[in-house]
Amino acid sequence: MRIDILTLFPEMFSGVLGSSILGKAAEKGIVQFGLINFRDFSESKHGTVDDTPYGGGGGMVLKPEPLFRAVEAVAGQAKPRVILMCPQGRRYDQRLAEELAAEQHLVLICGHYEGYDERIRQHLVTDEISIGDYVLTGGELAAMVVIDSVVRLQPGALGNEQSALTDSFTTGLLEHPHYTRPAEFRGWQVPEVLLSGHHANIERWRLKESLRRTLERRPELLAQMELTQEMQQLLAEIEAERREESTGGQD
Ligand code: ADE
Repeated sequence: MRIDILTLFPEMFSGVLGSSILGKAAEKGIVQFGLINFRDFSESKHGTVDDTPYGGGGGMVLKPEPLFRAVEAVAGQAKPRVILMCPQGRRYDQRLAEELAAEQHLVLICGHYEGYDERIRQHLVTDEISIGDYVLTGGELAAMVVIDSVVRLQPGALGNEQSALTDSFTTGLLEHPHYTRPAEFRGWQVPEVLLSGHHANIERWRLKESLRRTLERRPELLAQMELTQEMQQLLAEIEAERREESTGGQD
């Protein structure tokens, strides 16, 4: 997979793209990153990339020419997904991460000014993505979020292939709790079943705790899922346990 990043601040990416899972994925050739300063594609001597808005008002607007020229330079003949990072875009989630992870080539555009000339949205980009309902000073941090979540889904990027499959959101449920040694820490015990070595019981416990956590924290995720018979049975147990707790075992 190739990911080209168009930004006025390429230095912001060096730590993130060079470290940990992303750095290793690039080293292994699983992903190739391109960092392009689109100021280099400005048509002006001074490298101007923005201008005041037609109609007046405050703030600066990113001009179309440098971004069109930069995208055309990295796209070649192929038609990559060209993604504009902006708070008005489609809300980013694991489903969109999985969709983008299946692409061969992504181009991410990071702006830093008041806005983008509308012709960029209409005629250059294929997608607009927001990472949440808040406003960042620029698209770079948002692009890093997208890149991180997409690269870790590439085959071979994670040391343990299992871990992407059981992620929260991938399964539709939040992940179950995890424990490691020691079995007792400051008087707090690891659940007995995890020490039992009984695989079927451990799997059942994990599914149940995954359901409990989703029910407590993100009930709307459960409402969207098709529940197996086992899940329905476990949810019934959880609900009985909750009733028991709320009545203090009085009925
Ligand atoms: N640029 C500024 N805020 C943003 C957000 N929430 N998501 C994506 N890009 C942005």
